[in-house]
Amino acid sequence: MVSPVQTQANAGAHIAVRNVSHWFEQAQGPLQVIADLDLEIQPGEFVALLGPSGCGKSTLLRLVAGLEPATTGSLQHDSQAITQPDPSRIVVFQDPTLFPWRTVWNNVALGLQARGLLKTQRHRVDEALALVGLQSFAQALPHQLSGGMAQRVALARALVNDPSLLVLDEPLGKLDSLTRLAMQTELVDLWQRKGFSVLLVTHDVEEALFMAQRVVVLSDRPARIKQVLVNDLPYPRHRGHPRLAELRHQALSLLGLAASW
Ligand SMILES: Nc1ncnc2c1ncn2[C@@H]1O[C@H](COP(=O)(O)OP(=O)(O)OP(=O)(O)O)[C@@H](O)[C@H]1O
Ligand SMILES: [Mg+2]
Repeated sequence: MVSPVQTQANAGAHIAVRNVSHWFEQAQGPLQVIADLDLEIQPGEFVALLGPSGCGKSTLLRLVAGLEPATTGSLQHDSQAITQPDPSRIVVFQDPTLFPWRTVWNNVALGLQARGLLKTQRHRVDEALALVGLQSFAQALPHQLSGGMAQRVALARALVNDPSLLVLDEPLGKLDSLTRLAMQTELVDLWQRKGFSVLLVTHDVEEALFMAQRVVVLSDRPARIKQVLVNDLPYPRHRGHPRLAELRHQALSLLGLAASW
């Protein structure tokens, strides 16, 4: 089932995760991955998740995206239960997984094509490419792109659906550090212009703090909320701001790293 297309400006999703616990069946028995987790994302808010490897971050994103049901607890999007994936909640993964034989334009068009909307909504593909600055590469093939450009195509492919929630699972993880810094700024800029809500998972403490308004620090598996760090610095932010250094110190010690760093 597909949702109606939203053509009006998007206010951003309200997401409510209430008392969610999740288990996976493994050969050795059930493995608890998420424990009693409560998390709310306000419309238009940018929230980042930080936590040790394997603690359950990607699993939580999959539950929020509706890719699988939580074992217990409830997840809601604008007061509606999340029961299946929906084009209004798009996940962008670390690996852009573009179709190599399709042009950039045709890769971005996929979502609309799958929903039978491409004929009437072709302009949305051009708009999404413009949003990520790739208009002039519309006819390029994926192998002709750099890693950063390919990740921008993946973003455009998400944005073409005009999502009210962008779910990002380490989307910049494979990029070199300079491209990564540039893309952080671009993503924040996009978010500010479009007004969708964002749930970002990253391993990079600075990235989380630079981009998000709230950084949720999770425990080891099963993931529980250890602490929520609020970053109320206005945008655009300055990477050298002393408040960021202070928050970084807090985040690192919450993650069990030497506080003298
Ligand atoms: N489909 C699955 N079936 C069984 N176990 C799974 C499944 N998906 C994830 N797990 C297990 O759940 C735990 C959490 O995995 P998850 O991918 O959510 O961690 P993560 O926090 O995203 O880790 P990373 O930071 O390394 O990406 C891991 O121990 C993993 O082995
Ligand atoms: Mg993960």
